[in-house]
Amino acid sequence: MIRRSVVRGTGHYLPERVVENSWFEERLDTTDEWIRTRSGIERRHFAAEGQTTSDLAIRAGKAALERAGLTAEDLDGIVLATSTPDFTFPAVATMVQAGLGMKRGFAYDVQAVCAGFVFALANADAMIRSGLASRILVVGAETFSRIMDWTDRSTCVLFGDGAGALILEAQDAAGENTDRGILSSDLNSDGTYRELLYVDGGVSSTGTAGQLRMQGNLVFRHAVDKLAKTAHTSLEKAGLDGSDVDWMIPHQANLRIISATAQKMSLPLDKVVLTVADHGNTSAASIPLAMSIADAEGRLKPGQLIVTEAIGGGLSWGSVVLRW
Ligand SMILES: CC(C)(COP(=O)(O)OP(=O)(O)OC[C@H]1O[C@@H](n2cnc3c(N)ncnc32)[C@H](O)[C@@H]1OP(=O)(O)O)[C@@H](O)C(=O)NCCC(=O)NCCS
Repeated sequence: MIRRSVVRGTGHYLPERVVENSWFEERLDTTDEWIRTRSGIERRHFAAEGQTTSDLAIRAGKAALERAGLTAEDLDGIVLATSTPDFTFPAVATMVQAGLGMKRGFAYDVQAVCAGFVFALANADAMIRSGLASRILVVGAETFSRIMDWTDRSTCVLFGDGAGALILEAQDAAGENTDRGILSSDLNSDGTYRELLYVDGGVSSTGTAGQLRMQGNLVFRHAVDKLAKTAHTSLEKAGLDGSDVDWMIPHQANLRIISATAQKMSLPLDKVVLTVADHGNTSAASIPLAMSIADAEGRLKPGQLIVTEAIGGGLSWGSVVLRW
């Protein structure tokens, strides 16, 4: 018998304000047509003035607890992925802990930009398998609208705000790849690619929050190559391959990246959970948002094999294979 981390419940929250592509047409030299065809994005949600990353995360966390039939007292910890924290410190996770009324356990943030949720999930899984915790709330929450350069049409049309969460719970398992729960993961970073995607400010450099800068076409090429490879590596570690996959739940950055990755894995698009049209790129929030929405719609069935993968600033990229 071994310990596995099984998904016990999911939840999400999207800010009320929905911004259609046409909103950008009025402000920038861009078109709905360009945004749709180059990225697959049709609309995104933006947080209201004063609404912070922790506000979104608390709502997603509450929804996940409710769906799991648990209370905050049942959790041993919170691991939260974000690159857009309310404050430099404390960790957003501790603000979520307070917001949920949780008095014990640990709470900390993980920062791997758009790959953040995959890193947080692998991290929480390792803690559960080692016996350090038995139930962890894993959250991805972002307010990327706060770090946009609204004069840069090549970036500001692509991102959105939101939060998604899931609860991982320890369960005894046989140690086979037919077990429920997380079966394998693969994490990678290469800091020499910093210039491709970064924020041009920070605490110890400029003393400002900074704005996002990206060489989109170069990121695109790395994404397709590295995402298919990491998914393959995770599947191989679990003794599985693409033909075993029921659902791919990818980071939702660009429909063309997702399609090309699915094609490389010989997966038809009807096995891919797609939310990019309605959310844009919500960075670390995109995978748990997509997972929670697919779960709420009843699309994810117990026993199905899911592969989730992401790439982001760093560059950092990775994947997790789990059975629902
Ligand atoms: C950003 C992205 C959509 C751009 O698509 P692309 O096909 O690579 O387009 P390019 O960047 O080569 O730009 C093509 C042209 O469109 C223009 N363009 C850029 N943004 C535009 C916009 N919003 N509206 C209209 N034209 C735009 C460029 O200026 C360029 O014009 P030029 O040919 O006259 O120089 C695409 O590269 C992408 O999604 N990259 C990955 C980004 C990503 O996923 N990042 C996050 C990872 S977590």
